[in-house]
Amino acid sequence: MRHLIDPLDFTKEETEQLLKTAEDIRLNPEKYNNKCAHKKIATLFYEPSTRTRLSFESAMINLGGSVIGFSSADSSSAAKGESIADTIRVISIFADIAAIRHPKEGAPMRASMFSTIPVINAGDGGHQHPTQTLADLATIRRRKGSLENLKIGFCGDLKFGRTVHSLIKNISRWSGISFVFISPKELRVPSYIINEMPNNTPYTETTDLEEALPEIDILYMTRVQRERFFNEEDYVRLKDSYILTEKKMELAKKDMAVLHPLPRVNEIALGVDKDKRAAYFEQVENGLYVRMALILKLLNID
Ligand code: CP
Repeated sequence: MRHLIDPLDFTKEETEQLLKTAEDIRLNPEKYNNKCAHKKIATLFYEPSTRTRLSFESAMINLGGSVIGFSSADSSSAAKGESIADTIRVISIFADIAAIRHPKEGAPMRASMFSTIPVINAGDGGHQHPTQTLADLATIRRRKGSLENLKIGFCGDLKFGRTVHSLIKNISRWSGISFVFISPKELRVPSYIINEMPNNTPYTETTDLEEALPEIDILYMTRVQRERFFNEEDYVRLKDSYILTEKKMELAKKDMAVLHPLPRVNEIALGVDKDKRAAYFEQVENGLYVRMALILKLLNID
């Protein structure tokens, strides 16, 4: 039995295969209508979500299966003090596969140790979000035709941004990748993420988005996450550090792609949405196909 907890849990080759299946699902959805008949996914969300939870649920429904779960800790027995270990033991009786989002780093990993069904990390605190990464990789590949030879700029909250951490870790495995990290000094990429990058991927750090924009192939914007700050004053000071506008987009390459895991607050002006380089709603669509492919893979269904 396999789980997806860390972005490197699948090899590069397995990831390529999963993206290929996701592309086939996109092109031939009817082939997959019944693949998960009589299967159930449990979505155990201890933290808010729109895209991830609903795309896992849509993914299972599209595959002919069904869904159980909860969308907040308050509506589960976690509110009465139940541990994640006991919860997953119980859920293993009811469901065939589980997707878990939790504010504590490592909670899905702990659940996987007690589970008898595959566990998917749907985001753990400021740590990792490997299925968002699959959506990001699918989007980059569709936009650029390849995952190689790209300069990727990450902008915003690179300290707490779990989607950033997971994408850095995963895409570093392709050749010719380099990074530009654009953030306020307080929100720089943690050194443990830099140290974990395979292949000594080249990177630079800057605080200046406009200076970095002309050289970037993919711009990955992120939200400054209020929920991760201990201090409201720091959040207010940093939240509008970077706002991507139509004017700033004039500095960028004509074929750059703008990604954002969403939700957005203020960091991409609404006017940018009509720019053909805006790819963030495509990411959501690709998230559905990669999650369908992931469910099939973890349930060993061809
Ligand atoms: N990208 C993402 O994780 O969105 P949600 O928080 O809405 O699931």
